[in-house]
Amino acid sequence: MKVLITGGCGFIGSHACEYYVKKGIDVVAYDNMTKHELMRTGYATDAARNYNWEFLRKIGVALIKGDVCNLDKLMKAADGCHFIIHTAAQPAMTISMESPALDFSTNVLGTFNVLEIARRLKIPVVNCATIHVYGNKINETLKEEPTRYIRCPAVIDENHPTMEGTLTPLHVSKRAAELYVQTYIETYGLEAASFRLTGLYGPRQFGGEDHGWVANFVIRTILEMPIRIYGTGKQVRDILYASDVAEAFDAFYRKRKPGIYNIGGGTDHSVSLLECIKLIEEITGKKLTTEYGASRLGDLQYFVCDISKAKRELGWEPTVSTKEGVSRLIDWVKESESIFRRGLRAK
Ligand SMILES: NC(=O)c1ccc[n+]([C@@H]2O[C@H](COP(=O)([O-])OP(=O)(O)OC[C@H]3O[C@@H](n4cnc5c(N)ncnc54)[C@H](O)[C@@H]3O)[C@@H](O)[C@H]2O)c1
Repeated sequence: MKVLITGGCGFIGSHACEYYVKKGIDVVAYDNMTKHELMRTGYATDAARNYNWEFLRKIGVALIKGDVCNLDKLMKAADGCHFIIHTAAQPAMTISMESPALDFSTNVLGTFNVLEIARRLKIPVVNCATIHVYGNKINETLKEEPTRYIRCPAVIDENHPTMEGTLTPLHVSKRAAELYVQTYIETYGLEAASFRLTGLYGPRQFGGEDHGWVANFVIRTILEMPIRIYGTGKQVRDILYASDVAEAFDAFYRKRKPGIYNIGGGTDHSVSLLECIKLIEEITGKKLTTEYGASRLGDLQYFVCDISKAKRELGWEPTVSTKEGVSRLIDWVKESESIFRRGLRAK
């Protein structure tokens, strides 16, 4: 078996690669190695950018530098593959507002190309969508408790209306890509899934203010630098550890039940920013300095996935506890501290 992972040198892509390599399966990682987001984090850009590439090279992944917008090159990379995991994306709401054309081409055209290739090769494909497709009207249904927002019902399933509230280009590009997935399922019978992913975290995540908040908090705690919170800090997510995401991709490959799935930690893994900071402080023994700013356009203050569809149809559920996952992320940031510190010092 051979798996093509677009965006394989990114955070989740690298975990999907590692997952299949450990199973003795051939893996091709296809990634354009963009530095667009990394340059904004303040970390040592080249060292951070090459980190996952080197990691994958050492474990035997075939690496191809290419853009998902290049259909011919992507088609060649997919030759002989049995499954595509599409993680390549422009994932940040902030960047989507600043560079809507980049967001559109990467997320819409890129996903369209991936689907076309899966259709031509008649192979299954999983797309990475996001819980942001629901929109932030959910913010209007929340109550405030001392450390977090709460909502009744606590969880949100796939039948909840989408695109309600204030929309940004990211909402549209991610939902458009997902609609193409649905369309390819219905029109061509493609064995495809779109995963509406929640907040993901784990090692090899170079998180910053744009994207990857758990990693951003951990990195800044270890470096003893202040973090900025946009809003009250009571925002809630059901965070999901990276290896659990890789398991979900494979669960779809095994069960092949096409459709849209919420993939998140569910209520057992829900945490607010303030609660997450407390957990990081407890594990590291360090105190984090926080600064507060106004909420950003399009921000979603609460999301906890109802994951019963993924449990029922794919036989998947998260296995890594929040405490265990955050501890592993902390260990990795400590090992990799020089990459973060070097760039920030040079600024
Ligand atoms: N990390 C999260 O918390 C989170 C939450 C919800 C959804 N998602 C989705 O999961 C997917 C993976 O996210 P991630 O956190 O691993 O992102 P990431 O930025 O770490 O990885 C994305 C990878 O795609 C590559 N890429 C970008 N544009 C490309 C292009 N045009 N051609 C080829 N490669 C390209 C990048 O170089 C990068 O290596 C994305 O679709 C994202 O929207 C992530």
